[in-house]
Amino acid sequence: MAPTADILLRVEGVWAGYLPDLDILQGVNLEVYRGELVTLIGPNGAGKSTLAKTIFGLLTPRQGTIHLADEAIGGRPPHELVRLGMAYVPQIANVFPSLTVAENLEMGAYQSRPAGVANRRTQIYELLPLLGQRHRQRAGTLSGGERQMLAMGRALMANPQVLILDEPSAALSPKLVDEVFAQIRAINQAGVTIILVEQNARKALKMADRGYVLENGRDRFTGSGPSLLHDPQVAALYLGGRHDSPSPEGN
Ligand SMILES: Nc1ncnc2c1ncn2[C@@H]1O[C@H](COP(=O)(O)OP(=O)(O)O)[C@@H](O)[C@H]1O
Ligand SMILES: [Mg+2]
Repeated sequence: MAPTADILLRVEGVWAGYLPDLDILQGVNLEVYRGELVTLIGPNGAGKSTLAKTIFGLLTPRQGTIHLADEAIGGRPPHELVRLGMAYVPQIANVFPSLTVAENLEMGAYQSRPAGVANRRTQIYELLPLLGQRHRQRAGTLSGGERQMLAMGRALMANPQVLILDEPSAALSPKLVDEVFAQIRAINQAGVTIILVEQNARKALKMADRGYVLENGRDRFTGSGPSLLHDPQVAALYLGGRHDSPSPEGN
């Protein structure tokens, strides 16, 4: 286990919600070590997206704390978090359809010094070669999986320490899911810490260093990817049975 100093993100006892008297997150905890790929799974409505939005400053914790390294970030607005090294791709990863791939990437660097942008874009093309091949193509003409990769590439333009991805595989065919997951792994191997929210729980746990199962706004189980995959209770409740076959929910 890495020493505490290596914890990059720590969520402690966080309560948050959208409406005044309705808490969606109810004391959730999450720790992410530098360099890790951590996945958040759990049933629909468990609060996974709400947690992602709260970490990225789109919702303010009503109780509890969030730290990025040593800095308390709970309630800080997204543009400040981007400057501190956080990036977020929402569940519906919109790209600018009439702009080219290259222009979309540029939009991801609006807070960066202009001199670094071209270099950064070249690095993204090395990491996600498909974007390089398509750099002149308008984003509106890309497939769903390609658009997802572009949204990830755009988030990476700000050179984040930690990237939060909310269901990047939603609505993709199984083949594209594998491609997008391979890209996520490559991004992680390039040194970016990743928080991956996924419906595709088995695939996500196979790839992750660690996972959290969220339910009713709380962290219900946590452990290494394999230990959660093989935990009979987790399998029965959240993975659609114990067999290692495609789950009935498809995607
Ligand atoms: N913008 C919103 N306004 C009010 N309630 C919301 C909003 N977004 C989500 N919720 C509610 O918060 C709960 C958790 O949703 P969400 O975090 O999206 O779950 P998950 O991502 O795990 O499926 C659900 O009950 C959902 O209806
Ligand atoms: Mg969600």
